[in-house]
Amino acid sequence: MALAFTAISLCACSAPKKESGRDFDPPIMGWSSWNHFHTEISEDIIVGQADALIRLGLSDAGYKYVNIDDGFTDGRGEDGRIRIDTVKFPNGMKAVADSIHARGLKAGMYSDAGDNTCASLNVKPYGLGVGLYGHEYEDCKMMFDEWGYDFFKVDNCGGRHLDLDEKSQFTKIAEAIAACDNKNVNFNVCRWVFPGTWVIDIADSWRTTHDIWVNWETLKTIIKENMYLVAYTGNGHYNDMDMLEIGMGFTPAEERTHMACWCIQSSPLVVGCDLNNMPDYSIEFLKNPDLIAMDQDRLGIAAPVVQKEGETYVMVKDMEQFNGPKRAVVVANLGEETTSITVDVAALGFKGNVKVYDCFKHEFRPELGESFTLEIAPHDSEAFYVTGKRLEQSVYQAEAAFMNAYTEINEQDYESYRRPYEIPSPRVRESASSEMGYYVTELGGWAENWLEWRNVYSEKGGKYVLSLRYACPESRNVSVSVNGQDVSVLSLNSGDELEWKDANVSVKLSKGWNTVRLSNPMEKMPSFDCMTVKKM
Ligand code: GLA
Repeated sequence: MALAFTAISLCACSAPKKESGRDFDPPIMGWSSWNHFHTEISEDIIVGQADALIRLGLSDAGYKYVNIDDGFTDGRGEDGRIRIDTVKFPNGMKAVADSIHARGLKAGMYSDAGDNTCASLNVKPYGLGVGLYGHEYEDCKMMFDEWGYDFFKVDNCGGRHLDLDEKSQFTKIAEAIAACDNKNVNFNVCRWVFPGTWVIDIADSWRTTHDIWVNWETLKTIIKENMYLVAYTGNGHYNDMDMLEIGMGFTPAEERTHMACWCIQSSPLVVGCDLNNMPDYSIEFLKNPDLIAMDQDRLGIAAPVVQKEGETYVMVKDMEQFNGPKRAVVVANLGEETTSITVDVAALGFKGNVKVYDCFKHEFRPELGESFTLEIAPHDSEAFYVTGKRLEQSVYQAEAAFMNAYTEINEQDYESYRRPYEIPSPRVRESASSEMGYYVTELGGWAENWLEWRNVYSEKGGKYVLSLRYACPESRNVSVSVNGQDVSVLSLNSGDELEWKDANVSVKLSKGWNTVRLSNPMEKMPSFDCMTVKKM
């Protein structure tokens, strides 16, 4: 499990260097048994898929983890130890990990934060009584020290029905993993929504949505949701958009979108299909070296939306160097009509001419200029590397900021499972009235409920005007601070919930990276759409 700290800073962290020579590990790449095989798994199937990863060249492309999901257990014995289903796994789970390791691959395990795993809900008797609750330390010791597994996905079906507090139970599990002699366990929290910023401190990755399946609306929902969770990925801790359904029935256009959006958001890339039965074009998408490089980039960050036309979204992130000359761009048409979109090079963060490299065709495009036009079919995407001279970023979306008290547990979770949260937490809302389609609301009211742009860049430092785009139906206050110094308290009133107005604050920015915080520990703040930063 990687060291964690809540602040997503832009400098190299001081954690010890990884085997890769990097400061932190990239998102994991591999295969998982769940999406295709569900609980119908066995030693032969798992080892057969490990062989297929190698045969298809996927392991050479970086897909190293072979993750066993739900369905290998047969209850818990009187001695408290998990019993393995010996029909499926006659040699036990250590033998499977050993076979995977003997192939030069890594092995992944699965459990639940509560008493039962998710399979207990619909494929009884699987999963009953085999969750971690009450057995955290013994189960972790067995899986990671005795059996030698390298990855751990922890679900929450059992935790949900026991109504466990997610933060304390997942933290306890993280502590149990940390107490093992095996120090290389990659920990994935599977709570089906963004659980809260606490997860960044304890996990290497966390699921952000409900289960993926071969359905366009599901894919689109996952992509859109992750567009506004970008501030939480960083420093070796990643939003997990769920397993890849590539090779399971999506059209080639949808698979391009699927792969490109997972890669630009630095999501773990875990293939979910039967590797012995998938179309050739899917294998090529999975092995696309330019997209894999985008996903595994050493900065390990996610990409906010910088331009939007209807349902076509332009996402961009730095690659290799913060504020450097190379950026990754994905333009995704999530709509139902072919779109012609003129991508504005300034919105991508560049001044004037740029070089545009096509990550699907593996060649440079002829266009060089201040904009370039793309025709994109419905559900399809384009992916590029763009290089050129950088502009100082001027627009910072509120939904791309770090919201300290952000959690989706009480908002987008199952209706039947609403916790009575008394403490307000921020909300991201979709609205055609806001710039990139989203705005944030319900900030303020207690000390921890603040919003921070941590990546406000100034080449030389100096005097700037920050324009905050806000809305609120009555007068509300917000404190603005820059790099920890209070600069202003604004009293704002736009007259309506979605009536956007701009409030200006003069500030001094330091050379390099700056942090701008909006807070009000006592009362609710206005809603915010974005902040524009202009040099005086
Ligand atoms: C949940 C998870 C899935 C899978 C199943 C196993 O639904 O979200 O990814 O692990 O449980 O039962």
